[in-house]
Amino acid sequence: MSKRIGILTSGGDCAGLNATIRAVALRAHHGHGWQTIGIHRGTLGLLSRPVAAEPLDPTRLDAALARQGGTFLGSTNRGDPFAFPMEDGSVRDRSAEMIEGLMSLQLDGLIGVGGDGSLGILRRLLEPVDLPFIGVPKTIDNDVHRTERAIGYSTAVAIATEALDRLQPTGASHDRVMVLEVMGRDAGHIAIGAGIAGGADVVLLPEVPWRLSAVVEHIATLRRTGRTSALVVVAEAAGHSEIGREPADKAQDHVGIGTQLAHRLMATTGAESRATVLGHVQRGAMPTAEDRFLASALGVHAVDLLAEGKADRMVGWWNRTVIDVPLDKVVGRSRTLDVDGALIRTARALGICLGDT
Ligand code: F6P
Repeated sequence: MSKRIGILTSGGDCAGLNATIRAVALRAHHGHGWQTIGIHRGTLGLLSRPVAAEPLDPTRLDAALARQGGTFLGSTNRGDPFAFPMEDGSVRDRSAEMIEGLMSLQLDGLIGVGGDGSLGILRRLLEPVDLPFIGVPKTIDNDVHRTERAIGYSTAVAIATEALDRLQPTGASHDRVMVLEVMGRDAGHIAIGAGIAGGADVVLLPEVPWRLSAVVEHIATLRRTGRTSALVVVAEAAGHSEIGREPADKAQDHVGIGTQLAHRLMATTGAESRATVLGHVQRGAMPTAEDRFLASALGVHAVDLLAEGKADRMVGWWNRTVIDVPLDKVVGRSRTLDVDGALIRTARALGICLGDT
């Protein structure tokens, strides 16, 4: 029997979302003869009347789409149905309106592409209705539980690595300490990945408590061996309190940690320091090959789970294959870096200073 399934992308965008949407719609059409409805702007589309959504025509989902960054459906990280931000500054529970909108689409299943926050919200939104739901993990932060990879991480690391490749020669030319602040929310996955791949001298992570004095000492040691420049990667949540600021610097709290760190390193090492805050550059661009095949594999598996009558599960990547796990084992948890894991051990073995010794 022909079915209709919906797909929406929710939370911050990342590279690989279009490849995911494409994989879902192609698998639904070619594998099962189903129609896919793309819902616009994540949960926000469910508030419009008629609901902002479109049938996805498989003949228009060619490989060019898989190469494009962003999400052509749009997304939001401001549309919590249970605490929806209103124009007057108040918050309102608009979950019933969203459910009403969703039901008007007459779907047989829904696929949500999001991080653990978005997947948790969607799961809760769907509690009152009987609509099979499958989650697909995406986030540059790579902090979703029970999957080794989230869609978007590979591209973000590639972009941060390229930034280091570009900062190194200019830093070396001017004998500077170049600080690169990367995203990652509360996890250091992007920082450690790019730090290793991009040849950083120092990587500062939320998971490893660090001291400014250890970073200063490391830079001094590099100098003694003849190095006149250094590359420092700092994760956006790597701990503002740790950089040994003077009380006067507290006025700089609105300034990101990369800028604060460069300022403190300049004051303590005497070396000219410059900060680059990579920001949303990490979310855009063409997805890497890895993100494209991950998105494709996870999208296909999500549809197949619905075809098997499964629900309330998240697809994931583990041991070189697709898996699926119950959503309640995923939402509300965050997978930060394993401080005894291979990446941190590798960084230490390469002589990268993590600021703790
Ligand atoms: O979760 C993805 C992410 O890019 C984080 O790394 C970052 O902290 C946050 O989103 C930025 O959010 P916004 O797009 O709202 O500035």
